Amino acid sequence: MSCNGAASPCAARWMNPEMGNAVAIAHPNIAFIKYWGNRDHTLRLPANGSISMNLDGLITRTRVTFDADLESDTLLLDGREAEEATLQRVSHFLDLVRERAGMKIFARVESENNFPVGSGIASSASAFAALALAATQAAGLQLDERELSRLARRGSGSACRSVPGGFVEWQAGESDLDSYAFSLAPPEHWDLCDCIAIVNPSHKEIGSSAGHPLAESSPLQAARVADAPRRLEICRQAILERDFAALSKIVELDSNLMHAVMMTSRPPLFYWEPATLSVIKAVSTWRDEGLPACYTIDAGPNVHVLCPGSSAAEVEMRLREIPGVQDIIRTFPGGPARLISE
Ligand code: DP6
Repeated sequence: MSCNGAASPCAARWMNPEMGNAVAIAHPNIAFIKYWGNRDHTLRLPANGSISMNLDGLITRTRVTFDADLESDTLLLDGREAEEATLQRVSHFLDLVRERAGMKIFARVESENNFPVGSGIASSASAFAALALAATQAAGLQLDERELSRLARRGSGSACRSVPGGFVEWQAGESDLDSYAFSLAPPEHWDLCDCIAIVNPSHKEIGSSAGHPLAESSPLQAARVADAPRRLEICRQAILERDFAALSKIVELDSNLMHAVMMTSRPPLFYWEPATLSVIKAVSTWRDEGLPACYTIDAGPNVHVLCPGSSAAEVEMRLREIPGVQDIIRTFPGGPARLISE
């Protein structure tokens, strides 16, 4: 049976405040092996598989309330009305949930982040992971982790990796059915720290969604994608064996490859600031001197410096001394997306 609107017989179910309301939290993640470019942009089927770590302490908290009195979806982001394009993206995602639940009632979405949005700390990942969980729960759907990951992927590719906990792999898959993420190891598997060096907290000009379609215009993308299975295997093993030296090499190579693609796209994308390069060079020098640390950068200027937990205090202290580094956010492996009661 499907519900065709607020006036349909099953609409009453959605007017029950307890059934129409849910709150979820999710962590952003940092990709060790990057997702850049899609085989199918609408379904967000990626050009290659990817691996990431959820970031504990950084949180998106989202409440979804289906309300039969609403005439359209509404979105409050960090206490402010969201821009039209952001609202449309969320509304489009809610359509997928409504379609699945067989209902047409609009929703009020209230979402808050405790970290800078749109600056290379993947806020869209935690945003759509939390939204997928809160919206499906509020719509009365019970999805298992795989289905939830597949659904979150439709909102933002990297969001599928914020659904499971800890160290996570997104298998590229062949279709909507087999493109989802799963946990390689729980958060407590490895005491790894991500010291995020903030060199510019403002919103990036070209978001990932606008960047992915440009990937194929780089002559380097085909080589990056063809070599991805090899990098994924090395990264997987490095995580399972807690081998920081092996992880460092593959993480830096993968980040450099993605930025090489970005910089050679038409038009080229330059996400780095001068201080980004200062951090890259400093980290390489520290490693040569014996301090275990490596860098990786997403679609923004801030640098994620990974290190064993035992070196975190030293790495943070040194990062703070680099001119242009405005702040450090220290995070450790985080858990899965989850519902919370308020
Ligand atoms: C550079 O998942 O943000 O962070 O699917 O369009 O929302 P959309 O893109 P998004 O892309 C992430 C790109 C990246 C690398 C990564 O996280 O794997």
